[in-house]
Order: sequence, then structure tokens, then C-alpha cells
Amino acid sequence: MDPSKTPTATRSLPGVAYTDPVLYEQELKDVFERAWILVGHVSELSEPGQYVTANVGREPVVVVRGHDGELRAMSNVCRHRASLILEGTGQTRSVMRCPYHAWTYELDGRLAAAPSGQGFACLDRDQVALPQFRVGIAGGLVFCCTDPDQMSLEDMLGPVAPYLDWLNIGGLTVHRNDGAARWTEDFEENWKILADNYLEDYHVPVAHPALVRIVEVKGTIGDNNDWCEWSRAPYRTRPSRDPREREYQSLIRRMPGMPEEFEGWMGHVCIWPTTFMEIYPHHVDTWQLEPTGLFSTRATTMTLVHPDEDAQARRARALMRELNVDIMGEDVDITTRVQRGVQAPSYHSGILNDEQEFSVIRFQRRLRELLPRITELEATATGASSVASS
Ligand code: FES
Ligand SMILES: [Fe+2]
Repeated sequence: MDPSKTPTATRSLPGVAYTDPVLYEQELKDVFERAWILVGHVSELSEPGQYVTANVGREPVVVVRGHDGELRAMSNVCRHRASLILEGTGQTRSVMRCPYHAWTYELDGRLAAAPSGQGFACLDRDQVALPQFRVGIAGGLVFCCTDPDQMSLEDMLGPVAPYLDWLNIGGLTVHRNDGAARWTEDFEENWKILADNYLEDYHVPVAHPALVRIVEVKGTIGDNNDWCEWSRAPYRTRPSRDPREREYQSLIRRMPGMPEEFEGWMGHVCIWPTTFMEIYPHHVDTWQLEPTGLFSTRATTMTLVHPDEDAQARRARALMRELNVDIMGEDVDITTRVQRGVQAPSYHSGILNDEQEFSVIRFQRRLRELLPRITELEATATGASSVASS
């Protein structure tokens, strides 16, 4: 088949979209800085002074519970000389204190004090405040958006929020691993290569043999809107031939609060642009991808467990973590190859499977709509006439 005759909607992004520095800058601005980005879980923000930090595109943000009980999102950049104010997650004192020169901010973002203030001839304290952003909660997950004109979190999530409510994600709590509430991993690929890979299960039977011994990918059901989706696949009932997987299978049990209808299922959620969730009966992992460069991406994992997690659930979680380390290794192998391949002068773009790569098609359609630069790159890569006729 002549690739240029395939409809644009079923063609993958051009290889150059994964290597173009101009597009990368536009993605930060027009994708990440306009999206609702996952920053934490309600269980981390129940008391005044509790906070979480994250990056929304290029903007470091902090979400903090005020003394008045309000949850607020604001810039985490000090208005003096731009140091980041808070780090990670935790509990601040009555004010937020910048570690550089000790300017302090009220929990609503207003400047509280600036040491040696008499030296600032032009400082009008009442005019200094951390810029405020939007904060939203859905299914117990806390999101931040820096674009005042973006659609509501509820509209963006579509069928995903009711699904998270149904599963009682809000009733869970963040697991701390050696004291840390987040687990990060850095990858040497453009963020879209990792997102594309996460969005489709076409590769699963080929790349992840252990996973298909545990889960029946073909039995997947789900729902979606233009931005987000949930799905669930049934666990296999036949014991795996691998002892570790067999042990895992013997331990799968629903957490208290999960509906009976979820018995025997593993859930999966994709939230625009780069929030992914694995929902196991015994715990939940969220996976947030953040571009840190044209060819570097950070993944931040948050693990949610039942507040009274028992030994069986803990063991099931530990075994799944081991399996996931293997699965991640398999995905890294694939995505490293793809990063190398998209740079080949002979490669323009590929044809996507309408069913098994449906989510990639939808994701890339959104990217094309938001980023006209992609169409320009496509025209350059394949010739304007072939794009126009496709
Ligand atoms: S940069 Fe924050 S106090 Fe100076
Ligand atoms: Fe994979």
C-alpha cells in the first residue's frame, strides 16, 4: 500500500515530531501548561499546612491546604530571586519559607515577611504574592491547571472520574517507600514515545509474556471520551507455569471498599496528557510522565494502598512490583529502539491499527489539533501534496 494514500488519522506522528526542538517548546506551552496535571492524593492534604509539589510544564507548583481549610494551587517560585520554595511533599509550618533568603509566604500565597526589609526601597509587600492556579479533585486525586481558560477537570475526565469513585480510590492512602511518597525514574526518550507505548496493548502479547500469563488482554472492556479512558481486563484463572506468578495469582484479593463487580479484574486509566494508572485489586499505582528535555522524560510513581493494608495485600503488591520492574525493562528496550528509529532519515511515519492502537490515534489526533507545527513537519517530511491528498 502507498503510505501516502492512508488517511491521516490512522498514520502515526512523523518521526521528526519526536526530535524537533521547536515542537518540544510548543508542547510544554500548549499541552502541559494547558492541561490538568496530577499532583497528589487527598490523603496527603487533609491538614492545614500539608502540601504537595509538582511541575506543570515549566511552572513549578505547590498545592497546600490553608488554615481556612481551602486547598490552593500556586507557583512554587519565590518572587525574590526565583528559588523554588518547597520540595516534595510534607507539612509546612504556619508559613511557607523560601530556603534562599527566608522570605515567607502565607498559605494563601501572600508575602508574610522579607528579612532586612528596610533595604528594599521599592518593595510593596501587599503587591507581592505567589500567582494562583486552578486546583481540582476527582476520585481522590488532586490536579492542578495553570490555564484559566481550560475546560473543567470534570469535563476533561469524562467517564474516568465516576470510575475512580466506583473503585474508592479516594479512600486509599499514599504508601511511603523508605519515607518517600514518590518514586521517580528517568528515561532517555522523548515523552511521546513513552506515552504512545503506554497507550496501546498491541505490543503486550509480543513484549510482555509474563503479563499475558496473568491477564487476559483480549477480554478488556472500557469507556473513553476525547481525552481520557478507563479499561479493565480480567485476570486469568488458570495458574501460570511460573512460581512467582503463581504465588501472585494466589494472593489476588479485593481491598475493602472496592466493588464486588471488580473481583477478578485489573484496571487501567489514561488521563490526558500523561497520567496513567494501574488499578490492581490490592493497590493502585499512578504514573505521571513529565518531559525534562527533548530526549529525557521523568516518570513519577505514587502508590496508593488501603489504610489498613494487610500482609497478603503487601505481599501481592511486592510481587507485582517485581513483575513491573521486568515489564518496565521490556518497555525500555522497545522505546529505546523506537527513539533510535524515529531519527532514521528513511522513516517518515507508520500506519496505526484502528482497534488495538485506537488510543494512540486519539492521543495523536489531539496533539495535531493543539500543535499545528506537527502538520508543518508532516508536510516537510512527506511533501505537501501527499499530505493534502491523504
Ligand atoms: S529567592 Fe527566595 S528569598 Fe531570595
Ligand atoms: Fe509495555
